[in-house]
Amino acid sequence: MAAASKAETRLHCLEQYAQAMLEGQVVIVTGASKGIGRGIAEYLVDHGVKLTVTSRKPERIEAAASELRERGGDVLAVPGSVGDRAHANEVVDRTVERWGTVDGLVANAQSFRPTMPLLEVAEPDMDLLFDTGPKGTLWFMQAVHPPMAAKGRGRIVTFGTNVAMTGGPGYGPYGAAKEAIRSLTRTAAREWGRDGITVNCVNPASVAHRAPPGDDPDRLASYKALFDNHPLGRDGDPVADIAPVVGFLLSDASQYVTGETIQVDGGGLMRP
Ligand SMILES: NC(=O)c1ccc[n+]([C@@H]2O[C@H](COP(=O)([O-])OP(=O)(O)OC[C@H]3O[C@@H](n4cnc5c(N)ncnc54)[C@H](OP(=O)(O)O)[C@@H]3O)[C@@H](O)[C@H]2O)c1
Repeated sequence: MAAASKAETRLHCLEQYAQAMLEGQVVIVTGASKGIGRGIAEYLVDHGVKLTVTSRKPERIEAAASELRERGGDVLAVPGSVGDRAHANEVVDRTVERWGTVDGLVANAQSFRPTMPLLEVAEPDMDLLFDTGPKGTLWFMQAVHPPMAAKGRGRIVTFGTNVAMTGGPGYGPYGAAKEAIRSLTRTAAREWGRDGITVNCVNPASVAHRAPPGDDPDRLASYKALFDNHPLGRDGDPVADIAPVVGFLLSDASQYVTGETIQVDGGGLMRP
């Protein structure tokens, strides 16, 4: 009983700490209609962040924004593809119009293609992954730079992937696009550090929302097998596991961290 109440107290303190670090910030989260982006959006709204959310499908992002508002969030939804440079500028302009500033960018959106061997990769595969990966991330990074530099403070969080670092077979275009994002992250960290802007990359792991194992015994078995050699032995949760690290990177607690890639994967990269 005493141990449970200590755990509750710790959780309460952690929540208060996150609230103090994040409350009142203005943050843009791209690709926030579902998955990890949606989990991050929920966490940020729950900690008092004013939020602009994006994704391609207007009805999906509007539905997500309505649910975030029902949680008490001050939320602006702007539909569009991150691969469209004009969309990036529009998102930032509308955010500044509404709240006067931008404190953070969570460049989470990325379009995908089915896995395929390198020998079968064609130009449309490379184009889609690069247009919505490094190019889309860069358009948003460029767009938030002026308001962030003007106030001498900004936080940018980008997204890479472990399968790029381990050379995952079938993930050629995806992995190449994600490694290009990590490279842009380091260059921006060096070029914009004196403007007060930190730029870091997160390599998340949260598999279940993309391919829910369901009740099928074979799919359940292969899902469980994913975590056989895994240090923590379980999948990541977008809200409980990924979002708090993104929150830390958006906060002043991370002011001396830049150009880094943080594995938020339960140690999964270390698997043999
Ligand atoms: N899940 C993992 O385990 C994992 C592992 C490593 C890295 N990551 C990275 O983490 C990020 C989130 O992954 P996720 O698993 O949450 O993906 P997801 O479930 O497929 O969600 C992607 C989100 O981005 C939006 N989106 C897709 N293409 C877009 C585009 N071109 N422009 C604007 N929005 C777009 C989607 O909404 P619409 O369809 O409405 O546009 C959706 O809201 C990605 O960068 C991914 O590469 C994920």
